[in-house]
Amino acid sequence: MKVRILPDYDALSETAAAIVAERLREKPSAVLLLPTGTTPLGMYRRLVGLHRSGDLSFARATFFNLDEYFGLPPEHPASYHVYMRENFYALIDADPARVHVPRGDAPDPKAACRRYEAAIRGAGGIDLCVLGIGRNGHIGFNEPGAPFGSRTRVVRLAESTRRVNAADFEADRAPEQAITVGLATICEAREVLLLASGANKAGAVAAAVEGEVAESVPASVLRRHPKGTFLLDEDAGSDLGSGVAD
Ligand code: F6R
Repeated sequence: MKVRILPDYDALSETAAAIVAERLREKPSAVLLLPTGTTPLGMYRRLVGLHRSGDLSFARATFFNLDEYFGLPPEHPASYHVYMRENFYALIDADPARVHVPRGDAPDPKAACRRYEAAIRGAGGIDLCVLGIGRNGHIGFNEPGAPFGSRTRVVRLAESTRRVNAADFEADRAPEQAITVGLATICEAREVLLLASGANKAGAVAAAVEGEVAESVPASVLRRHPKGTFLLDEDAGSDLGSGVAD
């Protein structure tokens, strides 16, 4: 696992977009596993810019998203379906047939999770997984304690995660559950890129990079990944000891 520290959020977003673009140029049919949240917005903006200037096509790529709130229909304004459409998928030349976001309102969630895993396998597995990290070390919605062997499933959100995400919901009440791709599935990606920006991620980043590899810090599992990179801005890397910077 590598750690790269960039000066600020803009540089982080630029570098993340450049890595995604490079992988797509090497393999236009690449399979991507993607996050939502505040952190990747700058990366998505830059990828959309590359597409608009004619420098990058996504037409042959396949997209999977990491997670969705349980119970939300795809048209709910706080759903990750809407987030991804508005910030990325509707702004590029993605083939809608190859865009997959877990359905929060699936009538049989267990079967839907199994189908999601099968779709990932059917697409040939994930070439590049891009992640954010929660202040508690979660990746996707794999909260502290999530088994390293986990697959796509319905999970209960940590109260701290619900508080952080509450503002997106009426009466400040985030759903109690979510569907998330599991840690084993994330780790099977051929390459993993975790993005973290801001001082409020510094503790989680330090625990993941320098603490024990343990299920209490889900992102620590990436230390076992042969091609995993933590891409940080200086604030997010500010709790790391010396010697880790690229
Ligand atoms: C969202 C996801 C989460 C976020 C994490 C950080 O799809 O998988 O793990 O990446 O909560 O969110 P931000 O970027 O909003 O700080």
